[in-house]
Amino acid sequence: MLEKLNEIEKTALAELETVQDEESLAQWRVTHLGRSSAVMQVFSSLGTLGKEERPAVGQRANQVKVRLEGALAEKTEAIHQAALSRSLAEERLDVTLPGRRLPLGRLHPDTQTLRELYRIFGEMGFQVFRSREVESDEYNFQLLNFPVGHPARDMQDTYFIAAEGRGDNPLLLRTHTSPGQIHAMREFSAMDPDNPPPVRIVLPGMVYRYEQTDARHETQFDQLEGLAVGPGITFGNLKGTLADMARRLFGQDVRIRIRASFFPFTEPSAEYDIECFLCNGKGCAVCGGGWLEIGGCGMVHPNVLKNGGYDPERYTGFAFGLGPQRIAMLRYHIQDIRLFWQNDLRFLEQF
Ligand code: PHE
Repeated sequence: MLEKLNEIEKTALAELETVQDEESLAQWRVTHLGRSSAVMQVFSSLGTLGKEERPAVGQRANQVKVRLEGALAEKTEAIHQAALSRSLAEERLDVTLPGRRLPLGRLHPDTQTLRELYRIFGEMGFQVFRSREVESDEYNFQLLNFPVGHPARDMQDTYFIAAEGRGDNPLLLRTHTSPGQIHAMREFSAMDPDNPPPVRIVLPGMVYRYEQTDARHETQFDQLEGLAVGPGITFGNLKGTLADMARRLFGQDVRIRIRASFFPFTEPSAEYDIECFLCNGKGCAVCGGGWLEIGGCGMVHPNVLKNGGYDPERYTGFAFGLGPQRIAMLRYHIQDIRLFWQNDLRFLEQF
């Protein structure tokens, strides 16, 4: 029986040598220390042994069991250590890996263009003047020399928001930033009604038109209006201001072109183009004929000056409008104005 126990011990330890992972270790435990293992069977057969043999066999069986348990504990620890150092080896820091890019926030292309325009006009002495988006018919049209029923109103299809009970003065979403001219002139002239101070402002903001949308038309877009009023302001000042803006935006050699047009609130009125900065006026896919249409302009109409509290006998002024989104489209080659307010990150992340 003692011989058999030596044999049991030897086989179990030899087998344990070959165990490499937790799974075969668990298997080994069942086979060699489990209920039906060889040592355990020796324990249960002790009763059948003779009195003389029993203590020695019992003692030896116990030794074998303790020995196997000790070996098992050692092996368990060894396997844990091996697994740990293996995972450390896998996790080691590779300092040559490229870093992870953090997503950076950025300004909307329209905001970037607006801020550049504020800077350009700021350098020329223009102040930013903000004005409301919900207007009355009076400010959006009548005080700008569009009387009720005037055909020029058709150029600006209007979203009315409250007509009931307001007669000829319904509320509407402004169709252009020009009503800000009246608000600004009234605010400035109220400071000193007999000698109103000169005005040199830009009026930025959203405007709304009931338009069929397509790649060049949106129902919501923004404008930047310029207004200068003072004694002796001339059309030459307007041309100089627009030419300077064009150069600061698109480069020193860029020229502007002015074409006669009509707006009720300016006289004379014109539309102005900037020489295409992509083809230098030769004509390309973006501009067509070498010139980029930018906006309307003109000398402030005497009636408008009067409505703002400025005596047209003593003061003159010029005004112009432009579309910051249009400038952003030209600059970044954006083909569709509807992309601006769709909040598509794939679009916005490019700027
Ligand atoms: N308000 C005009 C428009 O939206 C543009 C304009 C502004 C024209 C100032 C002349 C002077 O069409």
